[in-house]
Amino acid sequence: MRQRFFATCGRGIEPILAQELIGIGVKAVRPGRGGVEFEGDLELLYRANLSLRTAIRVLRPVLQATVRSPDELYDAVRSVDWSRYLTPDHTIAVDCNVRDSALTHSKYAALKTKDAICDQFVDRFGRRPNVDVIDPMIPLNLHIYRNEAILSLDSSGPSLHKRGYRPVLTKAPLNEALAAALILSTGWRGNCPFIDPMCGSGTLPIEAAWIALNRPPGLTRRRFGFQGWLDHDIQLWTRIRDEARTAMHKHPPTLFAGSDIRPDVVEQAQRNAKAAGVGHVIQFSVMDIKDFCPPPGPSGVLFCNPPYGARLGKAKEDLPELYRRLGDALRRCSGWTAWLFVGNSTLLRHLRLQPTSETPFFNGKIHCKLIRFDIR
Ligand SMILES: C[S@@+](CC[C@H](N)C(=O)[O-])C[C@H]1O[C@@H](n2cnc3c(N)ncnc32)[C@H](O)[C@@H]1O
Repeated sequence: MRQRFFATCGRGIEPILAQELIGIGVKAVRPGRGGVEFEGDLELLYRANLSLRTAIRVLRPVLQATVRSPDELYDAVRSVDWSRYLTPDHTIAVDCNVRDSALTHSKYAALKTKDAICDQFVDRFGRRPNVDVIDPMIPLNLHIYRNEAILSLDSSGPSLHKRGYRPVLTKAPLNEALAAALILSTGWRGNCPFIDPMCGSGTLPIEAAWIALNRPPGLTRRRFGFQGWLDHDIQLWTRIRDEARTAMHKHPPTLFAGSDIRPDVVEQAQRNAKAAGVGHVIQFSVMDIKDFCPPPGPSGVLFCNPPYGARLGKAKEDLPELYRRLGDALRRCSGWTAWLFVGNSTLLRHLRLQPTSETPFFNGKIHCKLIRFDIR
């Protein structure tokens, strides 16, 4: 049965997510604010959760209504026949965000939604589902924007960007979905070497290796929201996962490398790569950017997000010198393409290099840019 779904993503990533959806077989995509709407069946929904690299979650709307008060929200939620989606033995949790609406408190809106569902069950069956905010069997998502409420079953559960390979966080890691979006936006698909000389926790080379190996990000994920649904089809899900496993490439098509000045960070990156199943694929080393030289062999892409002060709280005076050294390192990479993801454009002049292109992105709330340099 065909249904309407909405895959959410970070701001500005909608066109990349739309391309990913087309790549898994979606016929028509409608990019919107913070996500992409699409139609499909359960099979496509499973593929989306398993394979999308840039999505945060995939929602299945069950109610859309105009609500201007808590009572209107309650009545709208009660108008849904909830026995189609859950039983009193399920646990639920409602995640809510509200913007520019008469209802202003997201926690209160979530509470009203939960009450409406539970009251319906008590009236009809004398029993109600319990709430489990940590690990609900049926996670729900309520989005209210300009008094338009959309209540959805959350087919993903915990955010899809949490791949599970990064248990301990270093200081300024890049969100995995954003890292994948940056790489996909460049058009690189594993056709030439990929090196990150400021790799931190290794997110960029790990996501790059997964892209090149055609390894779906959800392959070893513990749980998806749809696994608690009444219409979950275990056979279909097992087949889709098995097919994806078979379609993975056995051998890395090119060289992957990551280095960083901090030995502890490199150790962590190695652990993360191992947890991601690509420990044998990526060559890690401890290296100051001032000593970086491209490896012999074919030229490729150098991809990194250098420190820019905002998150590490690093004294800004240290950074011009670091960017000068990074610029020197890039000039040694003749024939390579360099991609820098930066949040502080004023530092770029210290590279003393002319960019080929600049694309705006957001890292959380920080305005960032992905900048391309073709090194001649
Ligand atoms: C913004 S973080 C990179 C985060 C990384 N993309 C991740 O996902 O974890 C910048 C990294 O540059 C490294 N770094 C700072 N100065 C360096 C230098 N002189 N040479 C090499 N790496 C350096 C830091 O140790 C830090 O890990």
